[in-house]
Amino acid sequence: MAKPFQGFLNMLRGNNHSPVVDLEKAYLSPDEHVRLKINLRQGHISYSVMYDDAVILRDSKLGFKIRGYPELGSYLAVVRATEKYVGETWETVWGEEHFISNNYNELALYLTETSKTKRLFTLRFRIFNDGVAFRYEIPPQPAFSRIEVEDELTEFNVDLNSEAWKIPAYQPDRYEYNYEKVPVYELEKSVHTPLTIALKNKYYISIHEAALYNYGEMTLKLDEWKALKSDITPLSDGIKARIELPFDTPWRMVMIAKSPIGLTKNHIMLNLNDPPTSDFSWVKPIKFLGIWWAMYVGEWTWASGPRHGATTQHAIEYIDACRRLNIGGLLLEGWNGGWDGDWLLNGKTTDFSRPMPDCDMPGIAEYARANGVEIIGHHETVGFVDNYESQLETSYKYYSDLGIHYIKPGYAGSMMTIQGNREYHHSQLGVLHYQKSLELAAKYHICLDVHEPIKGTGIERTFPNLLTREGARGQEYEGGALNPSHACILPFTRLLSGAMDYTPGIFDITNGTKRLSSTLARQLAYFVTIPSGMQMAADRPRFYEEVNPAAFKFIQDVPVNWETSVPIMGAIGEYYVVARKERNGNDWFVGGVTNENAHKVRVSLDYLDPNATYTAEIYRDSEIAHFRDNPLDISIETTDVTKDNFIDVWMAPGGGFAIRLHKNA
Ligand code: NOJ
Repeated sequence: MAKPFQGFLNMLRGNNHSPVVDLEKAYLSPDEHVRLKINLRQGHISYSVMYDDAVILRDSKLGFKIRGYPELGSYLAVVRATEKYVGETWETVWGEEHFISNNYNELALYLTETSKTKRLFTLRFRIFNDGVAFRYEIPPQPAFSRIEVEDELTEFNVDLNSEAWKIPAYQPDRYEYNYEKVPVYELEKSVHTPLTIALKNKYYISIHEAALYNYGEMTLKLDEWKALKSDITPLSDGIKARIELPFDTPWRMVMIAKSPIGLTKNHIMLNLNDPPTSDFSWVKPIKFLGIWWAMYVGEWTWASGPRHGATTQHAIEYIDACRRLNIGGLLLEGWNGGWDGDWLLNGKTTDFSRPMPDCDMPGIAEYARANGVEIIGHHETVGFVDNYESQLETSYKYYSDLGIHYIKPGYAGSMMTIQGNREYHHSQLGVLHYQKSLELAAKYHICLDVHEPIKGTGIERTFPNLLTREGARGQEYEGGALNPSHACILPFTRLLSGAMDYTPGIFDITNGTKRLSSTLARQLAYFVTIPSGMQMAADRPRFYEEVNPAAFKFIQDVPVNWETSVPIMGAIGEYYVVARKERNGNDWFVGGVTNENAHKVRVSLDYLDPNATYTAEIYRDSEIAHFRDNPLDISIETTDVTKDNFIDVWMAPGGGFAIRLHKNA
């Protein structure tokens, strides 16, 4: 029989076997609206969540299946429970808010098995005013120190008739799918989180996880009892995670709001992550141009040849454009060895420190430095992690030695190759790889914009050099595979997991090869509605300088780092409006988007300084604009406003608007 781990027992101090958790009691959030109940019936532990009298989660199971052992989660007794309140405010390095308040009641339940295995673990719950989170903490114990998780049994038992906005898991394009609205009873196949759900009782929730390290990503699907259950992404041999104890799982979390817009100002995920352990004041959010969209529209190629994009000549022209347009950085894709022929296959042998012959990377870096422009170095790994990791240190050092402080790594392809096996991007081994590259980047003072990433779980609080990621269908899917409702769903789903590089700012909307489902005003709106620590102005410079410099002024003015954000209104898949104040400045910026239907909104300004007047620079669709046949028709006007005014704006079908509220001296 395994002996209980002595250190853990010592921690329990006091009377180990007294009744320590009141199963009748509801554990409350600081404002007493969110109510958590713990249920321990016949040794099985479960939990339920209410908001006042409304059921959020019905009784939901907890526990694990661990290889070679009986299920962990039954025959349990609570040995000790501790409670505490935490109220604090912390400062972000960058993001949608400068200061974030972290305010919760915590309940830690120390559990032991009453069966002969006598294993121990802790369940730590945090009850916030806008949600609940918990994680499992498993201490090392004799004969139970390395474990293989076969299944995590965590349930989120929501009303099956609720409606969810889902993207499928385990699919070749990872997170890059259009959202579909379905009843929860149809979630028979796994879906990714954040999973946003409109409950029948009118509450809105989003189920997600925070601080995902060294573990498979949590997806969700209905179990045989029709409860929504965690489905941890397996490794190629079927095991969900191999872990050494002690181990804390990622936090499982449920955000709760009374309206969709209420969900968009929820900071539980970041609060559940740890503060950084070193200085990240070197991290600088940035806007950038790219040698990129020209490839998508067929003008240039990633591969070598007469139309090769990432040449020294083109890079110099784009650096000059950055300087003229006052954009801080330039991305170069297709600059290094490995892009020719079948590049998806050649990813096996890509060389991350060998430029193509017509691309003088050191010379380009030198020219960029002389012009005060940052280079965003690109790494297309095609998911061949073994090849990439064999060059990780040398390739980061290569960039670092050239004075390059930003990298956009990409992991195209349906699976990763890790240790010779085909693994899911969101498996434990995928998570470990993304973490390794992020930590190495921090060592070289390099910021990342990860394409085909692991989803956001708030680790950018701990590693603020993770300035953004894609991880959803972005504008590269324009040209047929993006519809206008997508950008009206993202703020309530994907963006709850953090910043996104949507590659906004395409002005060549009517291009025959890549026709956008967007108006021009909407392209400006994205800079506010889709926040990102690295924000691309994704079109070619001539479209900014020659086609519409007046509209481009908004992209020049809009910041990439915010003091605070005020969600104004929204309905999932229909429209969304948000106001944000710039960090280290006085101006406010408002962005709004609509789906394929026109929408008229009245934008309140009550967040403005009451003692000031502002010049509103309004970029909106003209009365006859339409994403299908008149997308470029933009109206730009200025007017003086105070906090007591409203601005009425009409958004065309597939349109949007952007406003700069410039504080008058
Ligand atoms: C797919 C990415 O999504 C795209 O942005 C990139 O340009 C190509 N891979 C090549 O790296």
